[in-house]
This record gives sequence, C-alpha cells and structure tokens, in this order.
Amino acid sequence: MPAETVQDVVTLTLGTSTVQVALKGATVFSYTHDGRERLFTSSKSSVHASDPAAIRGGVPICWPIFGPPDLSNPLYAQLKQHGFARTSSWELEGVQETDDAAEGVKAIFKLEPTEAIQAIYSQPFLLRYTVHLRPYSLSLALSVVNPSDAIAALAFQALLHAYFRLPDGVLPADVRVTPLESLVYADKVAPHDGKTKQPERRKVVDVDGPGGEVDRVYYRAPDRLELAFPAADEVVKVRKSGLPDAVLWNPGPAKGAKIGDMEDRGWERYVCLEPGLIEPFQFLDPGKTWEGGIEISFN
Ligand code: BG6
Repeated sequence: MPAETVQDVVTLTLGTSTVQVALKGATVFSYTHDGRERLFTSSKSSVHASDPAAIRGGVPICWPIFGPPDLSNPLYAQLKQHGFARTSSWELEGVQETDDAAEGVKAIFKLEPTEAIQAIYSQPFLLRYTVHLRPYSLSLALSVVNPSDAIAALAFQALLHAYFRLPDGVLPADVRVTPLESLVYADKVAPHDGKTKQPERRKVVDVDGPGGEVDRVYYRAPDRLELAFPAADEVVKVRKSGLPDAVLWNPGPAKGAKIGDMEDRGWERYVCLEPGLIEPFQFLDPGKTWEGGIEISFN
C-alpha cells in the first residue's frame, strides 16, 4: 500500500523507500532509502500529538519565525522559538499516486489558524506542505498563502530543520559541508553574538566547533549543498529552492546533554543542515503564494 495512515502518522512507501510523517507539525520523522534510515529522530521524543512538544528530529517546519521571537514586535511576542507550525496538528489534505513508479507518491498536508493559534498569532494564513517520495529522492515543499483581503502583507521566516542521520561510525566532526566558501555567516556559539557577520574562509566546512558545538547561519547559500561523510564514502545532496539561507547546527556534548528530549549521545548521530528564509523576512501580499522547499538525494 503506497500510503497508509495509522493514528496520527502517515506512511508513504515506494519500493524499498519509506517516509513517515506525523500530523504533529507535518513533521517528516523517518525516511528510509536503500533500506537505511536517513534522518535522526530522538527515541526520547514522541511523534504523537498527545505530547505537545515539537519532535526532536526529522524535519520540523519552523514557521512563521526562526529562532526566538522578537519580543518587541507584538505580532511575534507570544510565539515560542521556531514558531507554532512544528507543534500544531496539521490535516492530511490528500494523497496522490500514479501508475508511473518514477513519479512516486505524494502526501499533502494543510494548516490554517485554529483557536489555539489565533490566541497567540493574529495573522490569517494557509500553509500547505507536500511530501513527495520518488525512487531516488525525497522532496519537501512548503507553500504559504496570504488569504487576507486587507492590504496587510504577511511577514514570515521559514525553515526546514532537517536532522540528517550519520552513517554508523561517522561522528559530526567527520562531516564535511560544501560549498560554503566565501559566504557571509553569523556564528551563534559563544563568545560570538549570533549577529555579527563574517565571511567563511574555508573551502570545506567541517562540523566541529569549540567543544563540538556548531550553530551558524549562512546567508545566501547556493541551492545545491552537500554533506559528505568521507569515512563512509557517502554524500547527501540537498537541493533547495525559495530558501536563500542555511543553518548548520550540532549542539556538541555539553549542550546536547542538556536537551531534555535528546536520547543518550544523540548529538553524535546527526548534523542539522537547515535551508531557510531567515533574512530578510518575506512580505507576502494578500492573495499571493510563496513556495520554498528541499530535495534530498544521495550519491
Ligand atoms: C537551530 C538553531 O536551528 O535549532 C539553534 O540555530 C537551536 O540555535 C536549534 O538550538 C534547536 O532548537 P530547538 O528549539 O528545537 O531546541
């Protein structure tokens, strides 16, 4: 069966590939390709809506903000870090399958303001998220509609917070990310302030900051990025569109151990590469639609 819903989890299957999506946050929390899991999700995190916390892993959707809210702006002041899309219950709007295996299978999810959302966020919006499993790739596409008939633009950030699972025996410090050379980035790891911008001088960026922690926002990153695991002779290719920026994050051992829903030494098993629209905010006029997404494939 190419698409199946059990409780609040949708599973798509295509040959030996599967993708699992929780209605909580429309969060893709598992993607197996060639019979191997390609995403990290902490075993201490629940994918079900009965646990209100965001899923610690997979690909949470950060919307309408990335990072902590700007408390001086009343539009966002009541939001939590990374916004409400990742914790809200989405609706499965439909599944599309064709007879052509190369076309794969798609599930489309929808989020509109609920009472709980309206209590913390006043803007009208319509989000759609398409999860498209093909034989050799997984595409995730977010669209945002401003349904307002007033003149106000809908202002937002958006980011797909992908936790890429490392092959066995590979640690974050072994991961090489390209091509980030000469991009401007802001470093969020102390003593840096997360705001000061500096140029990336390395040709190949290894995921190994002070004490193992890396948390950087790269602005205007190329649309084709690669995470290479040289020890395993593997490459994950991330092709993005509509998402100009990219975050590289791993908390390292000290911060990782303090994350409540992180499994034991979980931070050793993933690197987050998070394509996003961070700066400046998108201003979407009434009646307009914005789209952004990623495609994940392998060498
Ligand atoms: C990253 C941020 O995108 O998400 C980090 O750059 C943050 O600063 C991380 O720690 C995880 O955030 P959260 O809210 O899921 O713990």
